[in-house]
Amino acid sequence: MVVHITGTGSYLPQRVVTNEELAARLDTSDEWIFSHTGVRSRHLAADTENTSSLAAEAARAALAAAGVTADQLGLIIVATSTSDYQSFPSTACLVQEAIGAKNAAAFDLEAACTGFIYALEAARGMMQANPAPTLVIGAELLSRIVDWNDRNTCILFGDAAGAVVLEACEETGAENWRAVLKADGAGANLIQREGGTRLPASRAAGPYPLSMKGHPVFNFAVKVLDEVLRDLLARSGLTFDDLACVIPHQANARIVEAVSRRMGLPLERFFMNVETSGNTSAASIPVALDVAVRSGRVKDQDLLALVGFGAGLTYGGLLMRWKGKSGTPKAP
Ligand code: ACO
Repeated sequence: MVVHITGTGSYLPQRVVTNEELAARLDTSDEWIFSHTGVRSRHLAADTENTSSLAAEAARAALAAAGVTADQLGLIIVATSTSDYQSFPSTACLVQEAIGAKNAAAFDLEAACTGFIYALEAARGMMQANPAPTLVIGAELLSRIVDWNDRNTCILFGDAAGAVVLEACEETGAENWRAVLKADGAGANLIQREGGTRLPASRAAGPYPLSMKGHPVFNFAVKVLDEVLRDLLARSGLTFDDLACVIPHQANARIVEAVSRRMGLPLERFFMNVETSGNTSAASIPVALDVAVRSGRVKDQDLLALVGFGAGLTYGGLLMRWKGKSGTPKAP
């Protein structure tokens, strides 16, 4: 059984915050932020919004694109590190209720910025047992967990949600995607957020902002994005020339430029929208995918790679033959 993405959707909050706006109250500048990250602006959620409401908006857009109704869904997975509640209920359950997906199982998956790739592969595996249409969402409200006085981190992030609908079809011998999922817990201290059972709220007062050692994360990202892309292509018997589009985690344009140089893969092959979205963690790849699909950057039968990294440390990628509405899949 083959699983395809049949619809994509995304949601970015209305409010746009520029680098200049941040520079007005922080010791930073548009020049520093753009030259170090490639970010010019990001979207930040309104006080009335939360992760599940962002996710539900993206979900509705993906369902409409796929022509699938919410009650047809058998499963919803939300990849997020910024769930509405500390532990439970899951954001996926809140989305299930918000969109009326009364027949769907629902759970959250936490693999930081790699979460959407992990969630896609988990969904594909689970669909072998229950082939009903499945919704996979990456949603984050990072503006509520960053320290807005820490110029090392707050300038990087934005809020967003992206979603895809997966549908199964009976096709044999047509393996249309290949995933590599990896983790390196030795780097757990590089990106962290307290407030869990190691430092519970009952013992220490919050807030618990995200903390990050940017430089080693940057070096790690360049190394593993290269490694994952080479691995995926080698396992599929393909080369760089076969790749039509790479959608990397939108963390920092300088990371993508370094990967492009290191691999000798032209920068034009990488799709980027970090300039106007910032790093939206698990939402970044599905939002970029939705923009790429709707703008025609990804076309029927294109060989597409999604590749990401994040806290954990986690990293991974997915190579897929894109199937347009009327296309038929081919083996990668
Ligand atoms: N404005 C001005 N100066 C700044 C700013 C700022 N916003 N931020 C840091 N600086 C200063 C530092 O204080 C430092 O000054 P010093 O030399 O006087 O000490 C100088 O700039 C250089 O700092 P570095 O940290 O070395 O800067 P770097 O070039 O490494 O860029 C950055 C920092 C952008 C964070 C980069 O390391 C990076 O992108 N790392 C990867 C982060 C990432 O992708 N994380 C993804 C995972 S997040 C998740 O999973 C939720």
